[in-house]
Amino acid sequence: MTARKGIILAGGSGTRLYPITMAVSKQLLPLYDKPMIYYPITVLMLAGIREIAIITTPQDQPQFQRLLGDGSQWGLRFDWVVQPRPEGLAQAYLLAADFLNGAASAMVLGDNIFFGHGLPPLLHQADARQTGATIFCYRVRDPQRYGVVLFDDQDRPARLVEKPRTAISPWAVTGLYFLDGTAPERAARVTPSARGELEITALLDSYLAEDALTVQRMGRGFAWLDTGTHESLLDAGNFVRTLENRQGLQTGCPEEIAYEAGWISADALRARAELFHKTEYGAYLLRLLG
Ligand code: DAU
Repeated sequence: MTARKGIILAGGSGTRLYPITMAVSKQLLPLYDKPMIYYPITVLMLAGIREIAIITTPQDQPQFQRLLGDGSQWGLRFDWVVQPRPEGLAQAYLLAADFLNGAASAMVLGDNIFFGHGLPPLLHQADARQTGATIFCYRVRDPQRYGVVLFDDQDRPARLVEKPRTAISPWAVTGLYFLDGTAPERAARVTPSARGELEITALLDSYLAEDALTVQRMGRGFAWLDTGTHESLLDAGNFVRTLENRQGLQTGCPEEIAYEAGWISADALRARAELFHKTEYGAYLLRLLG
């Protein structure tokens, strides 16, 4: 059994954060004290995933590489893939097909932030399902902005709708997808939608049609945060700041997860702490060494 591999989709992020994102990828922007992409990376790490393809635009790739390197600083291995144009989330599976080489995957969107007590067990449960797909849904006030799940009277997923015109279901599909090894061949059968994209919803539909889609609700004890507008980006940063200041613990710290998991040595952690010695982040890494 091959280990599940990770995908981070951090390609073109549209124009909603212009003028800021005219020169820098959204996923490299700070979310309080660290780059946004640290948060989705740590979600995959919490699922126990160590081989990760990072999909970016060709222009942005060097900046991501400068920040993230080959992943060895965190006991990971990064593979670099480009997406020339943002032609849909399902395209990620076509672009990453060689990297996956038949393995099951967990994909997370580079701008999705997850937080919650009990997140690691939820991720491990999804990882343990070797066949089919698992997605996570979250109750939101503005479901029209997302893909949504409609449940039947037995609480089984009945239909997925991308950007419904009205609030037909409050359950938004989050940007975290655990799919089995058949995802690339299914993605190859998806045709472009009216907005010209290979929609993730269409790919998930193929699992739903075979009764192979597990929809896991994330309850109100979780936070799934959006960074799609200037307001929500600032709100998400403030959320992280509030938590970290209150607890004295980091959220989305790859070094901490790697060290706790035994993927990096104390010396490797110390080297990272020294790199950041002028910051509270560096001081935090030093404290982890005890
Ligand atoms: O955030 C969850 C939502 O993400 C889901 O509920 C929807 O079902 C799914 O379609 C998607 O919705 P959006 O249409 O809002 O996605 P958006 O175009 O904003 O892209 C999400 C992120 O993925 C964004 O950071 C840019 C990146 N992206 C997007 C596309 C379409 C890529 O890297 N490549 C792409 O081709």
